[in-house]
Amino acid sequence: MANIAVIGMQWGDEGKGKITDLLAASFDMVARYQGGHNAGHTVHVDDRKLILHLIPSGILHPGVLCLIGCGVVVSPDAMLREMAELRGLEVKIGDNLAVSRKAHLILPYHTGLETAGEESLGDRKIGTTSRGIGPAYRDKTGRTGVRMGDLRHPGLLEEKIRHNVEQTNSILGLTGKTRFDTGKILADCLSFAERIDGHIRDVSLLIDRKLREGASILFEGAQGTLLDVDHGTYPYVTSSSAVAGGIGPGLGVGPDKIDGVLGIIKAYTTRVGEGPFPTELHDEGGAYLREHGGEYGATTGRPRRCGWFDAVAGAYACRVNGVRRIVLTKADVLDGLEEIKVCTGYRWKGERLDGFPAESWILEDVEPEYVTLPGWKKPVRGARDESDLPAEFRDYCRFLEDRIGAQVAVVSTGVDRREIVLIEAALEGLLDVERLRARIFG
Ligand code: GDP
Ligand code: IMO
Ligand code: MG
Repeated sequence: MANIAVIGMQWGDEGKGKITDLLAASFDMVARYQGGHNAGHTVHVDDRKLILHLIPSGILHPGVLCLIGCGVVVSPDAMLREMAELRGLEVKIGDNLAVSRKAHLILPYHTGLETAGEESLGDRKIGTTSRGIGPAYRDKTGRTGVRMGDLRHPGLLEEKIRHNVEQTNSILGLTGKTRFDTGKILADCLSFAERIDGHIRDVSLLIDRKLREGASILFEGAQGTLLDVDHGTYPYVTSSSAVAGGIGPGLGVGPDKIDGVLGIIKAYTTRVGEGPFPTELHDEGGAYLREHGGEYGATTGRPRRCGWFDAVAGAYACRVNGVRRIVLTKADVLDGLEEIKVCTGYRWKGERLDGFPAESWILEDVEPEYVTLPGWKKPVRGARDESDLPAEFRDYCRFLEDRIGAQVAVVSTGVDRREIVLIEAALEGLLDVERLRARIFG
């Protein structure tokens, strides 16, 4: 069985949670390698809707080992809350969940620093999820971070927290009662340590041992390519490596362990937070997509900005991730539209640009070129098989494939696990389609 990565190709919220959950039962392990509880991965099972933020979306499948790698930043509060919520739904959490001893913690002073940082940026604010993500990664690369493994060494833990708290209080000019308190943060960390200790593991070693025994692993990306700290629309990005290349350092596995990258991409585009978005629709078209697609943030509840499919960004995401096969999600949201536009190029200062620009200020200013395609006459929703897909929709897929340079391997046609069409020819060599189909449809 091949090891596969599920990667977001846009600005997040492409439907990674649904696809990870769908595929998870075919794998022995599911691992998150970056991000934190800024992610919101929605999984629908029967009539139940569940949003996972930190714990891998494979957790609903008994027998699947869920891993949180060292590339993830872990908020103790968020982790305990999510574990409690899952247990409340009778999801077993025991030795099926492991978190890397090298993963960094998000502590209260990170959130304080983030709020102050966003305020200081004024109009240029990033519009973060306010989860302390950026400052936690800043401490990691600044070499002052607190790691899961430190929880087992109270003396060292106290020293680190004291240093960081003093720095933060002085940066923020906090005095008196408003100051962050080392004692309180330390006590909370020690209480977290007691409850979490059995889950702290050497994740890289654990994966290696399992792979040697013949197990398989699904890598679950959070955020998306255009939010990647290097390859996204910097500075309007998150602070981690969301691209497939982040898997190696984020879990301690070699690139040889990734057999295929499945790019998850919506049939249109959305974005939450600030930053450039060339195909954004500011008119009733955008409102239509938001309402029909239920485009409200799974983590913050913010309305998502909506627009047409951007094939320039799609081709770019294929390149930086090594994507050759995509899962096209939310195709059903376009059901009933007369015409559908796809952006096929950018013009900037009258010139056609050669691909996706590196600078946000250029992207902010580009003029998208569109090709208009006919909508489909019967709905994609409800299709079970490739042959049920409307002809115009198949043409839409061929058009996207040509423009971005990857094959449509799966079409997602609704929120439920069973609302999926597997394109057998495109999945060949990557997934055992017959087994997958049997697992999904029973
Ligand atoms: P993620 O962050 O990539 O996991 O995506 P989110 O869960 O934040 O957002 C995707 C939203 O679209 C969720 O509400 C999903 O339930 C929903 N969704 C996923 N796939 C489809 C689909 O094919 N059609 C429709 N209508 N909704 C979908
Ligand atoms: P999933 O995994 C969509 C966005 C924020 C903001 C920027 C930086 O559900 O796809 P951060 O809090 O990470 O420092 O915010 O990134 N953002 C997301 N947008 N989906 C996500 O995750 C996101 N995680 C962060 O809105 O623009
Ligand atoms: Mg999301």
